[in-house]
Amino acid sequence: MRITRAGWAIMTLFSTLIALLAARYAGFDPEAFFTEQRATYLAHELPLGVHISGAAVALAVGPWQFSDRLRRRSPRWHRRLGVTYLLGCLVGGIGALLLAPVAYGGVAARLGFAWLGLAWLITGGIGLRMILQRRIDDHRRWMVRSFALTFAAVTLRLMLVAVKVADLDFHTSYAVIAWLCWIPNLAVAWWFTRLRPARR
Ligand code: HEM
Repeated sequence: MRITRAGWAIMTLFSTLIALLAARYAGFDPEAFFTEQRATYLAHELPLGVHISGAAVALAVGPWQFSDRLRRRSPRWHRRLGVTYLLGCLVGGIGALLLAPVAYGGVAARLGFAWLGLAWLITGGIGLRMILQRRIDDHRRWMVRSFALTFAAVTLRLMLVAVKVADLDFHTSYAVIAWLCWIPNLAVAWWFTRLRPARR
């Protein structure tokens, strides 16, 4: 699977914007928190900080791993950024699993986020295992799937904007979006990455 330049630019732009937006949590100022969850976040500052710091790094770094030019010119940087991305996924994923049980939107939303967190950790772990075994095509496949899940942070926020614009019920929509923000991303990534035969 090769991503077009325009596709890569859009993906990078949105990822960077959402990663920057998450930086508002850096000062732990409750005024900047997701309004409906302010009290919950104040009671769970540690998992929140762990989650956002790891996840924001993964989201900011991830798109650069799909730049053919960077990868070809500097494999060393590809490796360094790859380690940074995977550490971000690990830290962000652990934080996500700690936050999922207290997420807004009730049990449906909590299960959606918990499965996303698990799938995120698993795809990143398999991607790492593949490269350690020098299985380049399989590594690429699993990293595409991993980033499709990281990108759920973008699709979730775009969907929340649509919910506000369409004036839909926020609680119900949020629970639906906790699933809808990642299952289509993963399905599309799976479809594209299954097309090429594996090469060891
Ligand atoms: C892909 C796996 C991810 C999972 C499973 C996940 C899970 C969660 C959960 C359960 C919450 C609490 C939601 C609530 O209170 O209703 C949360 C909040 C948050 N997450 Fe993630 N997350 C993921 C990725 C990311 C990424 C990549 C970012 C990028 C910066 C991010 C940034 C945030 C922020 C800023 C919040 C606070 C709520 C807000 O203001 O939007 N998350 N996440």
